[in-house]
Amino acid sequence: MSEKNSLVNLMWSEKYRPKKLDDIVDQKEIKKGISRLIKDRDLPHMLFAGPAGVGKTTAALCVANEIFGEGWQNNDAIRDRVLQLNASDERGIKVVREKIKNHIQWSSSVGDKQATEIFKLIILDEADEMTSEAQTALRRMMEDGARTTRFIIICNYLSQIIEPIQSRCVVFRFTRLSKEDVVDHLKMICEKEKVKHDEKAISQIYDATGGDMRHSINIMQAAAGMGSVSTANVTAAVGLSGRSKVGEVLRLALSGKFNEARAKLLELTQVYGMSETDFMKYANQEAYDMKIEKPDEFASIMAEYDYRLAAGAHPDIQLAALLAQLGRLSK
Ligand SMILES: Nc1ncnc2c1ncn2[C@@H]1O[C@H](COP(=O)(O)OP(=O)(O)OP(=O)(O)O)[C@@H](O)[C@H]1O
Ligand SMILES: [Mg+2]
Repeated sequence: MSEKNSLVNLMWSEKYRPKKLDDIVDQKEIKKGISRLIKDRDLPHMLFAGPAGVGKTTAALCVANEIFGEGWQNNDAIRDRVLQLNASDERGIKVVREKIKNHIQWSSSVGDKQATEIFKLIILDEADEMTSEAQTALRRMMEDGARTTRFIIICNYLSQIIEPIQSRCVVFRFTRLSKEDVVDHLKMICEKEKVKHDEKAISQIYDATGGDMRHSINIMQAAAGMGSVSTANVTAAVGLSGRSKVGEVLRLALSGKFNEARAKLLELTQVYGMSETDFMKYANQEAYDMKIEKPDEFASIMAEYDYRLAAGAHPDIQLAALLAQLGRLSK
């Protein structure tokens, strides 16, 4: 086993990433739909949309496995047929564009020799991070490469993908996973890893992650690292993930303790590395779980700041202002 593989296997979420579509938990209609398209041989471009950690990237890799065979990543002749890219690549959209263009050009030359055979696959993750201008360029590249190259475009928010791309793809909407399915999957991992676990602790993991399998597995692995998957260890592991601190920030802000709330917030973003979008997402979920007093006003404040952040305003400044606004809610 290569060093990279052994490192990957240290993380259960990677080690237990399904290799076949059938092994993906839940998402039944999606699995059926994709399998049918693959069997038909005339694979269209596909667009996978949905929340974090529910199997989008996994499904795309499974499609590659189905088309090119499971060992493709270790097969020199085939590996290069799959291009996996992150649209929010910190090196910028230009790099992403160049890579896609090269891949398509190269694939056409290969395609000429074996005209009936597809193909190349481009898996483009986090496409909703692309500007609409960049998406327009992508749309053109999809057309240019259509004879030999298929795209799987992945995003969290379908609404952020321009209509011409949506209409060129078969769209699959992934959903949060059900409690029953996540619980079964987590238990299966515990059994394989020979880790002691109790039912209540596993159900508690689901409650903390709301159907995000990656997050569930990570919390479980952290708890197992403390000895066993018990409720005490899960509570500690959830705390470590920083998410539970979002509730604390909210409570402080809502009770008008601005300075304390802001200090906690900085700890979250700087020590735990939580992104501002994750903060907004968790704060939103927490608030409704907390049953806050004026949910309607809360909603419109959140929407305002969500918009400002999406428009590129400075996160530290905006989040501090958000806390100040929330403080006024209780008065
Ligand atoms: N439906 C699922 N069945 C089994 N395991 C899953 C499923 N969804 C996620 N996982 C686990 O979580 C890990 C991450 O999943 P994946 O990369 O597919 O998430 P994603 O939907 O692409 O999320 P993101 O939007 O954050 O990229 C996988 O390696 C796997 O272990
Ligand atoms: Mg993904």
